[in-house]
Amino acid sequence: MPLSRPAADDIELELFIQALQLRHGYDFSGYARASLKRRVQAVAAARQCRTIGELTTRVVHDDSLLPAVIAGLSVPVSEMFRNPSVFKALAAEVLPVLASYPHINIWQAGCARGEEVYTLAILLEEAGLYARCQIYATDFNDAALAQAQEGIFPLAEARTWSANYLAAGGQHSLGDYWHARYEHLKLDERLKRNITFANHNLVADGVFCEAQLILCRNVLIYFTNALQDRVLGLFRDSLVRGGYLVLGNKESIAFAPSAAEFTELDAQARIYRLGPAAA
Ligand SMILES: C[S@@+](CC[C@H](N)C(=O)[O-])C[C@H]1O[C@@H](n2cnc3c(N)ncnc32)[C@H](O)[C@@H]1O
Repeated sequence: MPLSRPAADDIELELFIQALQLRHGYDFSGYARASLKRRVQAVAAARQCRTIGELTTRVVHDDSLLPAVIAGLSVPVSEMFRNPSVFKALAAEVLPVLASYPHINIWQAGCARGEEVYTLAILLEEAGLYARCQIYATDFNDAALAQAQEGIFPLAEARTWSANYLAAGGQHSLGDYWHARYEHLKLDERLKRNITFANHNLVADGVFCEAQLILCRNVLIYFTNALQDRVLGLFRDSLVRGGYLVLGNKESIAFAPSAAEFTELDAQARIYRLGPAAA
């Protein structure tokens, strides 16, 4: 029986990954291949390249292409109060414990355009905790980070986000936190006061801060199991003992060796606490 060999576009994808690492130092080798391939093909098509191979040649010879390639591979899709039940659980199960700390460090990894970190700021503000919080919001996509920093979003999102807020247990109107202007909404500047936005690559960079809470939702799903486990190790090293990790309801860490160091608090919202269960 003839050996089955990889398809041409799978070989091109592996060469693209190698080229990106060799030429630009970005390592995508730990990303799940099926979704990565779709994104690389979309970037190639947007640059009028007929194959991933053509895109590889361009990326090797034209450094100016890199920001667009990283932006194209990053999927910065989000919503405010996305998966509202997770924020309801966070408010009920985690914030009351965090309230005992005089100062609270929070790391939100994979912040995309900022929808989630502004959600956190609102949740903390309504719990009376925001004044003593420092939130670090990180991503490896500079274009998304710049938009996050601006805090300006399409007005068309307002209806979904308001419904999410109410479903998460919001007691006010989400519209109290923004000013609508033409087709856009601009979030209230005071929401930014304790947020620091920074570029951080979960694949390549180390511990970011010592945090009481880490949120990283809808990011690990793009990684292979081996990379997920490595990033979980990074979160473990970045959390204080008893610190909380919120992965959200799309991720699972059950398979990962590092998961043994966390105790599951909420199976649905995937909220974990570093350390063994309290006796
Ligand atoms: C689908 S968005 C998730 C946004 C938000 N956390 C949410 O759940 O709505 C995934 C984000 O992860 C970021 N990301 C992917 N790989 C990353 C990496 N290696 N380091 C840092 N951020 C990464 C992407 O740039 C993107 O903004």
